[in-house]
Parts: sequence; structure tokens; C-alpha cells
Amino acid sequence: MFLLRAAEGPRWMAVFLLLAALCCLFSPVVMVKHENFKTCEQSGFCKRNRQFADDAASSSWVSPYALDPASITFKDGQLAATVLKTLKEGEEKVRLPLIVTFLESGVARVTLDEEKRQKGDIILRGDSKARKERYNEASNWAIVGGLDAATGAALSAEAEAGYTKVFYGDGGKHQALIRHHPFSIEFQRDGETQIKFNDKGLLNLEHWRQKVEKVEKVKVEEKKEGEEEKKEGEEENKEQEPQGEDESTWWDEAFGGNTDTKPRGPEAIALDITFPGYEHVYGIPEHATGLSLKTTRGGDGAYSEPYRLYNADVFEYELDSPMTLYGAIPLMQAHRKGSTVGVFWMNAAETWVDIVKTKSITNPFSLGLLGKTDTETHWISESGIMDVFVFLGPTPQDITRQYGELTGFTALPQSFAIAYHQCRWNYVTDEDVKDVDRKFDKFKIPYDVIWLDIEYTQEKKYFTWDPLTFVNPTKMNEHLDKRDRKLVAIIDPHIKNTNDYPVIDQMKSKGLAVKNKDGNDYEGWCWPGSSMWIDAFNPAAITWWKTLFKYDSFKGTASNTFIWNDMNEPSVFNGPETTMPKDNLHHGNWEHRDVHNVNGMTFHNATYEALLERKKGEIRRPFALTRSFYSGSQRVGAMWTGDNLAEWSHLHASIPMVLNQGISGFPFAGADVGGFFGNPSKELLTRWYQAGIYYPFFRGHAHIDTRRREPYIAGAPYTEIITQALRLRYQLLPAWYTAFHEASTTGAPIVRPNFYIHPEDENGFAIDDQLYIGSTGLLAKPVTQEGADSVSVYIADDQPYFDYFDYTLYQGAGHHTVAAPLEKIPLLMQGGHIIPRRDRPRRSSGLMKYDPFTLVVVLDKDGNASGTLYVDDGATFDYQKGAYIHRRFGFDGKRSALTSIGLGTKGTKTDAYLKAMAKVRVEKIIVVNAPSAWEGKTEVVVSEEGAKESARRKKVAFEYFAKDGKKAAWAVVRDPKVGVGKGWKIDFS
Ligand SMILES: *[C@@H]1O[C@H](CO)[C@@H](O)[C@H](O)[C@H]1NC(C)=O
Ligand SMILES: *[C@@H]1O[C@H](CO)[C@@H](O)[C@H](O)[C@H]1NC(C)=O
Repeated sequence: MFLLRAAEGPRWMAVFLLLAALCCLFSPVVMVKHENFKTCEQSGFCKRNRQFADDAASSSWVSPYALDPASITFKDGQLAATVLKTLKEGEEKVRLPLIVTFLESGVARVTLDEEKRQKGDIILRGDSKARKERYNEASNWAIVGGLDAATGAALSAEAEAGYTKVFYGDGGKHQALIRHHPFSIEFQRDGETQIKFNDKGLLNLEHWRQKVEKVEKVKVEEKKEGEEEKKEGEEENKEQEPQGEDESTWWDEAFGGNTDTKPRGPEAIALDITFPGYEHVYGIPEHATGLSLKTTRGGDGAYSEPYRLYNADVFEYELDSPMTLYGAIPLMQAHRKGSTVGVFWMNAAETWVDIVKTKSITNPFSLGLLGKTDTETHWISESGIMDVFVFLGPTPQDITRQYGELTGFTALPQSFAIAYHQCRWNYVTDEDVKDVDRKFDKFKIPYDVIWLDIEYTQEKKYFTWDPLTFVNPTKMNEHLDKRDRKLVAIIDPHIKNTNDYPVIDQMKSKGLAVKNKDGNDYEGWCWPGSSMWIDAFNPAAITWWKTLFKYDSFKGTASNTFIWNDMNEPSVFNGPETTMPKDNLHHGNWEHRDVHNVNGMTFHNATYEALLERKKGEIRRPFALTRSFYSGSQRVGAMWTGDNLAEWSHLHASIPMVLNQGISGFPFAGADVGGFFGNPSKELLTRWYQAGIYYPFFRGHAHIDTRRREPYIAGAPYTEIITQALRLRYQLLPAWYTAFHEASTTGAPIVRPNFYIHPEDENGFAIDDQLYIGSTGLLAKPVTQEGADSVSVYIADDQPYFDYFDYTLYQGAGHHTVAAPLEKIPLLMQGGHIIPRRDRPRRSSGLMKYDPFTLVVVLDKDGNASGTLYVDDGATFDYQKGAYIHRRFGFDGKRSALTSIGLGTKGTKTDAYLKAMAKVRVEKIIVVNAPSAWEGKTEVVVSEEGAKESARRKKVAFEYFAKDGKKAAWAVVRDPKVGVGKGWKIDFS
């Protein structure tokens, strides 16, 4: 959250008020303060590299990078060589060590570094204590596996002048074609080029050079002493200045009243990556844009700025904009019919990405035949080594799995975490919390978690409670626990710099704060006023952080308390672009510049680790929400899309943003339901709940200046409609949990865009306003337009789709109008799936733990269906020892039988868990699109594994409902009494 108050920043406040007043003159709506954030033109290295790209577009351009063939070695799946950068005739070439690693998974990794800096053979300007190497530790934070080198990778025997070829991937179907002069790489699959590096010649590693002091004429005149010497210096400078290079921001750079000193001078790393034949690219969150990324240079409807990745507290953010937001995942995938490929640009510094699409006419004489579109991208990072992973697909599932093997899969959350969260800034007292809790019960509205924003603390000192307003947090937690409900409290990375606060004293005395460029504790301004920031890059800081969360340290918390990490970009109110100065220093003397985009993840990680160890012997899966994130954050919690607005447009924008998180490896995502800033109309609030039930992370939240909007406040008919939406989320929790399990083992998104499910359907590649839930075949199209009473749902295939509530049939590829009056949530079921549910309404998900299941069998056009269910205790790590139920349900149309087959493998805790779940049964089976041959049938035959002789082949009541107009025929088996953890068969023939 973000808000400035006079008391907290008088200087800032004055500016803020002035700007706010100016804004209001022109526009009635709140809007982002553009002037606080850099454009590419205002970001020195971005501007230089865009200029570089313009220069390279000329026909005489030759990339100054060449691979020295004599330097090539190849061993154990790894190619090493030196790339030489030519400066000017006669000058020594810059040596850049290149390593290309071919991984067992079929992924390739390319790193390029700078030899002089590897060796520490440079001089830092000023008295800087910063590291001399290029930052090479992003992998320490982002990567957890998948790095086994491919033993089968082989250099091609056929020698071709100027090339080195390596075969890798399954059976050598991948090929890296490394051109020596100029240096470039083509990645091929089955002989076809999919990805090209430096094809446009935009590779640009700004090598280290010593500053040649320039002396201004005026100053020379002022200072008579040593006049001559300096004049000489000036001339020399002119000579040395590389032609046409813009040096203005090489050595320091001012923005918004802050000056960034650059002890290492210019050090950007940039590369063009081309996807030939690919018209659509997705990914690189976080931006408030559509799923299929727009071009950024030239072209209709294009942006004029590159997509920016520089985690920042962009308050009241703007929609349909490549501006940076709170988190960064530099993973991009390109998609066309029959192929998905991708790149992961693992750099933690400020990064800009330009996207250009070009149509190449393959044969100018074949009129009417459109040429194919290439997507050309240009990646520009301020510092660090170049470290890029290349994925050759060919399916979207391959990309999400391989990326997940590298950066980790989504942590399987506790089951409460995927239920509904009720938040606002702020529930003001412990009595207020209990009162809200009671009202949810009174109105029979399910919810699992209530949240506390910063006001619960004493004067914004984290790990304390305001003694006047939160008098008895322990009692409050006990109250919540009665209905198995949880509390989430906010803990931010800025620590109040004040007296009588042990947390700041410890952090200072242990030296665990982020340092300024001089090596002293950095002090900035945030919620508490003067603050310092924990440096969670430091292992000692994580160790210390853990001590703060122990129940006897953070008194008033209990096993049902969880944590929310906000402001971890980090947000610094008086810092450049509302964050830290880039020349601040972190653990290991890395500059903040180098690590900025992973900063939020390190703090989130520390919190996760702390939650694991709150009490000896009590090991529960942590829950920690983060605002800032990087590749790998999915291992430690959930994210939300930050401070959105209570406007229809923001509701609409949330769908592609959440979908993009899904395909980018961090699917546990959601937007603030209702919109953070402003007061939503009752209609908007209702529609937002109806959409929010499809966010993997589902939380209502509101700014401190808004009116209360808990679901029970809206009144008739809204409260009832919102309650129905919440019940639908709760009813489908088994399907959601199964989708989370799938994400945690395969990297598949929890909610999926059309292209991911139907990768062959070209018409659906840009569709981003509807979503599929996991592998369930549930297709939701949230209403995001005011006054709408229908929506247009896009169907990609020829399967039958059925309305979730009344089984109305929709069939045929294309758009279908589905009625959506306010009380209706457009939700279809694709034929061919079996959807698990729990139908008994409860107050919280914890109370559903032993409830029976319903299976909805939706037959496809051939009369078949299948689906899975994953269940465990929803809290501990016992599932890692086999304490879970994982079933595959299959309906075979030919045999007319439904079966349940176990998918799990047995572990030490399997038997105990199955015993605990022995009484949990399937109490209802609904078959949608039931064959007409069943008409008149009154019984089905049920057999269960291990059942007593007398109970084998028992007969169970069955009811058939014939087709009614557009409504499909359906049938119901009432209480077959089969165990959810058992094998069984139901015979419908
Ligand atoms: C958190 O960071 C520490 C230190 O780098 C690392 O050992 C640990 O595995 C991380 N935790 C997770 C869940 O990624
Ligand atoms: C239906 O399921 C059966 C058994 O699983 C399978 O043999 C058959 O091929 C399926 N039919 C189609 C058209 O997929």
C-alpha cells in the first residue's frame, strides 16, 4: 500500500499535494506520477543501447564481437571460448569469456562475462567499496535445480568455416549454431531455427574503462594553477572519446534530485534475441498489459517505451503500459502454431526490453500469401553478466516445466491459503477483527483469513502490537481459531530507526542493514519515518530474522498467524524512483544496482524461512504474501498485483496479469478484489468478487481512505450474490487444490490462458480475458464491463461445453454469447473432464476437511471423461512422506463405467493418512451429457476394492434427466458410498 501523510514527509507531501492539485485540473481520475519514474530516454544505459540499435540498423554496420575459434574447448556438455570485442584499430581487444552449457533437460545456458572484471583488474572510482566483478549471483537466488549438463551433447564433426555446431537435446534434435565472426548463435530444433542471438548485431557489453577526467573551460579559467595540465587533459579526452558514444551518463546520473555515483562507469549488457516465424510473445511480468505483448518501437498501436523491469512502488499504476511494476520475471516465451520456445534472461539489474515485429515476405510474387512474422526483441540490463537460458519447447507445457525445474515449482500452500482472504487497511482493533469475523458468520459467508495492515503495530514498529488498539492479540487468535480461521499480519523490510526498539538495535549492532555507498547503515524514509532496511542477502540476516518470529519473541502470534511482506521492492519514499539509491551496498559489497530486482525475493525468502521455524517440532507450510518478486519467488509464497484502483478497467486488466503470472512460473497470484484505491460501486464490487473467485490468490482489500466493503455490507441483492460466488470458490476448492498440486509438481499454471490449453488454435493466441482452471476443463469468463448482462465466450475446439449451473450446451469453435445477469457467473465445463467438488457450505475451508466429495463427470463428444483429485492434510509436509490421496477418475464411454485409480506412491505416512480419511466418501456423482440409452435406468452397480463379500457389486439408486431444449441430459448417482481414497468402479451399463 502507499499513502503519504503530512507528518510522514512534509517536503514530499508539499510536492505531492501540488501535483495532485495539478492532476485534478486535467483529469478527474487518479493517475500514476510519470515524472517519478524514468523513461528509457532518462535511463542512461537504456538510451545508449537504443541508440546503439539505431546505429546498427544501418547497412554498413558490423557487430564488433567475434569468437576466437582457437579458444574453443568442449567438455562434458560445456563449450567455453573467448569472445573478442574490437574497439578501434590498433587498440587491445576486450576479452569476454563465453560459456555455453547444454543441459540434460534440453535447455541451453549462455553466459558472457568480462575477463578484466572477473580478475578484479579494474579501478573503482572514488573510494567505492563495491565489488569489481560483474554480478554473477542471481543464480544463487533464482536457480534450485535442472543444471545437470547433457553428457550426450556433441560438437559436430563436419567442419564448416566460421561455425561451431553443437547437437544436444533428446536424441540431438536441438542444435546450436555458433557463428564466429561476427559472433552470433542460432538455436535450432529439428533443423529449423527457433531463436537467434545477436542476429541484428545489438550485442553490447559496455566494458570497463577508466574515466578520463574532463575539465570544463570555465573551471580551467577559474583555477589558474595547473592550467596547462588540464588543458592537455581535455585534448586527450577528445581524442579518446569513442565516436558518437553518449558519455553523459557514464560516470554519474541524476534523476529527481538524486545522483547515482557509478564507481564502475558504464557497464550495461545488451543483446538482441529474435524469434523467427513467431508473431506472439508472452511473459516478462509484471506489467499492466495484455497477455500477447505489444511492440515497443514503431508500428500501429505500439508502445513507445520498452517494457521495463525495475521493481518499484508504482502507486495508482496505469493500465496498458510497459511501465515497470513491483516484480520482475525476465522469462519470455514465443508461440506459434505447433511450437513454443522461450528465453530466461537471468539478470537482477534494471532491465528494458524492446519488442519489434517484422513481416518478412518469403516470396514477393505469391500475392495473397502473407509472409511470416518475426518477433525481434532487444534486452538491455544496466549491469551484471549476461546469463540466458534458452528453451526450445516445443509445447507451452515444456517451457513451464523446464523453467520450473530451474527456478523451482510453486510451493504447495496450506489449504486455507487458497480460500478467501478478508483484508483492509485497517481492521483497527482486536475487537474490530472479532466483530468482522462474527458478521461473516452471521451472514453465513465463508472466509478463512483476516488480515492486518500496518496500523496494528505500535508506531510502525514491526513485531509489536499497538497496546491501545490490539489489547489482546492472543485472545483474538484463539477466537479465530475456533472456526479454523487464520490471521495474516504485515511485516515490512524497513525497520524504524528509533530509540527503545530492540529490533533496530539488534539489526544495527549485528551489521545486518543495507549500507550506503560509504559503507554506513543506509537511512531512508518509509511508513515509520526514518528507517533502515534489513539486508536479506546476508545469511546472518536470515538467521537473525528467524529469531524475531518465534512465538515467544513476536508475542501475541500463534500457529494460525501468517505473514504479509509489502514494500519490499524496496519502497523508499525519499529514494530515487521511490526506491533505494543504486550505489547502496549489500552483503558481499554488491551494489544495489546489481541486485535490485532480486531484493524483494530475498526478504520474502527470509520470512518463509522464519515461518518454518517458529516453534520446535511444529512444522507447517508457511504462508507469506509478497508484493515484490523475481524468478524463484514461487517457492516461497503468493503475490498480488499491488495497488490497483476500484475501476472496471482495473478489474479487466487483472485477468491477463494473473494469467501472465501463471505462464511465467509464479501462478499463486491475484489482484485486490474491489480495487485498492477508491470506492467501487456495488455492481463493480459484486462483479469483482465473481472474477476474484478465479484468482489463485483470492483476497479482498481496501485503502484506509475507503468506505468499509466487507461482503455483508453491500445489502440485497449484492450480499447474497457475493456469498454465492464465495460458495462457488469453496465448493471447487478440491479442484483448486488439485491444480495447485499440479503446479507444484509440473510447473503448469493454476489458471491457464487459451493458447496454453489449445496451442494449435491460432485464433485464440491473443485471448486473455477468459481462463481455464488447472486441468479441470472449467472455463471462466469474468464479467468486467459495467451493466453487462451477457458475455462472449470463446470456444477453441469442437468439444461440447456445458454451463456449470444448468448444463446448457455450447458447441462449435468461435464466440458464443452466454447470459450473465448480475447474479450469474459465466462458467462452462469442457466435455471430457471429471471435476471434484465439496458441496456442503461451511464457514471456513478447515471445517471441510472430512466432508464428502461430489464428482461431476462431463462427457466429451465420444462419451469419455477423466480427471484427477489430490487431497492431503492441507497443513503439514507429511505429503512428502506419502500422506496424501491422489486419484485418477476415468469414464469409459464404450464400457459405460467410471473408475477410480490410485496415482500415488506409498510412503511411510500413507497408511496413517488413508486411515484418517477412511470415512471420507464420494457422496454424489453427476454425469453431464449422459447418453440417452440410460433413460429409464434406476440403478448402477458399485464395486469397491477391499469391500466385504456382501458389499461387492452393490446396487445404488440412479436418476436420469433427459435433454431439455439446449440443456444437456444428465444423471445422478446418489451416495455410492465409495471411499475417496479407494479404488472402485461404477457400472452404468
Ligand atoms: C532461501 O534462501 C536461502 C539462502 O539463500 C536458501 O538456502 C533457501 O533455500 C531459500 N529458501 C527457499 C524456499 O528457496
Ligand atoms: C474413450 O476411452 C476409452 C478407454 O479409456 C478409449 O479406449 C477410447 O479410445 C476413448 N475414446 C476416444 C475417442 O478417445
